[in-house]
Amino acid sequence: MSWSPQQYLQFEDERTRPARDLLNALPEFNPRSAMDLGCGPGNSTALLAGRYPEARINGLDSSPEMIAAARVRLPQARFEVSAIESWTDPDPYDLILANAVLHWVPNHKELLPALVSKLSRPGVLAIQMPDNLAEPAHRLMREIAQAGPWAAKLSSAAAERTELLTVDEYERRLRPHCSHIEIWRTTYYHRMARGAADIVEWFKGSGLRPYLAPLNPEERASYLERYTAALGQIYPHDAEGGVRLPFPRLFIAVIRS
Ligand SMILES: C[S@@+](CC[C@H](N)C(=O)[O-])C[C@H]1O[C@@H](n2cnc3c(N)ncnc32)[C@H](O)[C@@H]1O
Repeated sequence: MSWSPQQYLQFEDERTRPARDLLNALPEFNPRSAMDLGCGPGNSTALLAGRYPEARINGLDSSPEMIAAARVRLPQARFEVSAIESWTDPDPYDLILANAVLHWVPNHKELLPALVSKLSRPGVLAIQMPDNLAEPAHRLMREIAQAGPWAAKLSSAAAERTELLTVDEYERRLRPHCSHIEIWRTTYYHRMARGAADIVEWFKGSGLRPYLAPLNPEERASYLERYTAALGQIYPHDAEGGVRLPFPRLFIAVIRS
C-alpha cells in the first residue's frame, strides 16, 4: 500500500503544524543527532534541520517514494528506506521525532520502550499521533467499507491502523524507562476550503489508503462517491462552502536523563 508525497503534501501546512507545535514544547537543548522516524517527504525533517542547525539529521521511512522526495528536499540530511520495526541502527540519538507515524506501527506496549532505549542520555523522544478513530470521518470509512459490495475485500482495512493505548497505559509503559513524561491532546480544526471534497483529498493521502488500495477503479469511484456524500451530511458547510475538520491528536514527550 504505497504513499504518495504529492497527495500527502496537498495539505502540507496543516500536516506540519502539529510537528512544529511538538518541537516548540520540548525543553531547550542542543541535540547533536536527531532521527525523524516516518519522515515522509521531509516536511517534519525540515523542521528539525531548521531548529537544530548544528545537529546531524537522519530520516527513516518505509516508503521509497517518500524517501525520494525527502532526499530532494533536504540533500544535507541522511535518509534510509526502512520500517521502524526493523530499525537496527546501533548509534543512540539525542532526539528521536516520530510525527504522525506510530499509529501505523503495531504493538506500542513494546515499541515505545524500545524507542526510548535508542536515546542517548540525556535524550528526548517526541511523538505525535492522530487520535481520530472515533471521529465521524473515520467511522464513515469503516461503515461504508462494511456496507458495500466490497465488504469482503475491505474486511481487514480498519486493522491497518493501530488503536492508541490509553494515556495511563502509555504512562505505565514509559515511566520505568525515563525521567520525565509529558502527555497532552489537542484538537486542531483544520479548514477544508472545498468542504467534503477536501476532506476526501486529505484522507486519500493518509487514512483512506487501506480502504482504497484493495478496490478496482470502479469500486474506488463508487466508495468515494458514497463517502463524500456521507461526509457532506455530517460536516456542515459555512457560507463559503468550507468546513472545519476537527482533528484530535495525542502528543507524548519522553525525557531520558
Ligand atoms: C502521515 S506520514 C508523516 C510524515 C511526516 N513525518 C509528517 O510529520 O508529516 C506517515 C509516514 O510514515 C511512513 N510509515 C508508515 N508506516 C511505517 C513504518 N512501519 N515504518 C516506517 N515508516 C512508516 C509512511 O511511509 C509515511 O511516509
